[in-house]
Amino acid sequence: MPENNYFKVCNIAELKESQGERFLVNDIDIALFKIDGKIYAVNNVCPHKQANIMHEGFVENGCVTCPLHGWTFEIATGNLLGGSRGLKSYPVKIEKDDIYVQVIPKELNW
Ligand code: FES
Repeated sequence: MPENNYFKVCNIAELKESQGERFLVNDIDIALFKIDGKIYAVNNVCPHKQANIMHEGFVENGCVTCPLHGWTFEIATGNLLGGSRGLKSYPVKIEKDDIYVQVIPKELNW
């Protein structure tokens, strides 16, 4: 298990500015975004119809809009625009230009 559950995902050069990229991180579907050079990780599944498509969303002003029906989320927080809930967001750290995302492993607890 990686240190503090930070999983190595990709190199920062693999991401294009304002364009989402999809990764499976420890079995969790995650969309990474590079906004003004900073990296953000949110869940790739839109909560409206459970579509795993957020990485294909339109990015503008720090927000991503789901391509299916237009729900818009703040990328930094994952929250619905003007709301308090939305996409789960995940801590990100960069080491030597590699991107690490912290996801809690799925565990059975019975
Ligand atoms: S599935 Fe995303 S807005 Fe409907």
